[in-house]
Amino acid sequence: MSTGADAASPRGASPRGASPRRASPRGPDAQASPTWQPVDEQSYRTALRRLASGVTVVTTRHGDVDHAMTASAVTSVSLRPPLVLVCVEKVARFHGAVLATGVWGVSILSADAARVASHLAHRGRPIHGQLDGADVHRGRTGVPLLGRSLAWLECRTWAVYDGGDHSIVVGEVVEARIRGEGGGPADEGQSGTGTSTSVSPLVYVNAAYHTVRRLGDLGD
Ligand SMILES: Cc1cc2nc3c(=O)[nH]c(=O)nc-3n(C[C@H](O)[C@H](O)[C@H](O)COP(=O)(O)O)c2cc1C
Repeated sequence: MSTGADAASPRGASPRGASPRRASPRGPDAQASPTWQPVDEQSYRTALRRLASGVTVVTTRHGDVDHAMTASAVTSVSLRPPLVLVCVEKVARFHGAVLATGVWGVSILSADAARVASHLAHRGRPIHGQLDGADVHRGRTGVPLLGRSLAWLECRTWAVYDGGDHSIVVGEVVEARIRGEGGGPADEGQSGTGTSTSVSPLVYVNAAYHTVRRLGDLGD
């Protein structure tokens, strides 16, 4: 089987860490339930709609085109080395671009970025100039990053795994910055733990954008 992994991994067909092949679906109980079928798509969608997730815009620069796509399937993977993953739908234009470049950015959106998130999730929008009008700065790797985000990561593709109709793109984080008081990246050396910056993230749940509020002290 040819997967995006083979084409995109900087280490070819054997990325560090794991085989890009699908793990065996047969667990210890597989014999007892040999007739289980995948859930129907609507039930799957309805259940997952209740899983709240942060919202990011993932970006890369391919040739002279800035690609950007709203993504909530972004997760931290490892601290040593620092790895994150993003699941990218294979039919998305970002998919071909990120596999080709191997360098990408993640802008972690704040609650006031719902409009840009909605725009960059709109399938079929013009690919050229899609970041025109947005507050954009360029990271050290040259990828575009959305201004006034809560934090930014820049990644180098570490491995790519097949994930059904998505590719699971794992990136080694080569730069991580947080928003400073003025709305732009904090000055060098000021990033620290970032705990003093007020955080009002954009959250997607139940097919709509929200933000969060802190619950009271739970006493633990
Ligand atoms: C809140 C939200 C989160 C999304 N998360 C992802 C994601 O993690 N991965 C993905 O491939 N598409 C995701 N999408 C869909 C893409 O943003 C959408 O298909 C986009 O138009 C793809 O752009 P492109 O074809 O220019 O790459 C998400 C959409 C929304 C509204």
